[in-house]
Amino acid sequence: GSEVDSSVKVSSESPINLTQDELKKIAAYKAVEFVESGMVLGLGTGSTACHAVAKIGELLQQGKLKNIVGIPTSKKTHEQAISVGIPLSDLDSYPVIDLAIDGADEVDPFLNLVKGRGGSLLREKMVEGACKKFVVIVDETKLVNYLGESKLAMPVEIVPFCWKFTARRLELMFEEAGCVAKLRKVSEDGEIYVTDNGNYIIDLYLKKDIGDLKVASDEILRLAGVVEHGMFLDMATTLIVAGKLGVTVRNK
Ligand code: 5RP
Repeated sequence: GSEVDSSVKVSSESPINLTQDELKKIAAYKAVEFVESGMVLGLGTGSTACHAVAKIGELLQQGKLKNIVGIPTSKKTHEQAISVGIPLSDLDSYPVIDLAIDGADEVDPFLNLVKGRGGSLLREKMVEGACKKFVVIVDETKLVNYLGESKLAMPVEIVPFCWKFTARRLELMFEEAGCVAKLRKVSEDGEIYVTDNGNYIIDLYLKKDIGDLKVASDEILRLAGVVEHGMFLDMATTLIVAGKLGVTVRNK
């Protein structure tokens, strides 16, 4: 895709000295301004998205929003949405979603994302792939020049069957980028992390740029054993970034 070039709006607020969580909340609340009564909403997962879910619940309780249907992207978000009173459904009943709001682990200048540190990448990709509008909410620490730059993991959801084989194949696929593949655990040496779909996650740690993202995406998805990966290419339509100098809203 082409580099984002349209409508950059900077708010007058200057949230200097705010914590990272407060910045996440500012981005989330800004995104909720896009929500209108009667919408079918994709509800994201993670510590940023949960602020949006809470706010939508609050607006419903206050009667400022009506007739919202939420489509959660994880069991955790499902539980939170129920607890704040958002009526829920699923993609089978609502195959087209008006608007999704979700966080990201990395955002590149073209609005390509890495997601899935929270482990919900498969359901997020299904829901956000069915949206007319996908608003990504982040604090400024998530902005990168290229995916993988932050040295955080690039997650890949795989079937548990012979996971070591799949992990090794992924590592070899990105050998030139110095890839190290690690099975995600619940804690450092504890039990294996299992996704909402009963799968495992392999976190790919990269030392450099993996080049053409579309080629890399296709190659990962062609590997039997892989269910989905955390690169969200050309999916986000709007990016909201909360930083020390204010909030920016960028439309693709
Ligand atoms: C979960 C995700 C999250 O959106 C991503 O990890 C960002 O999380 P947080 O808002 O907690 O930083 O992709 O699978």
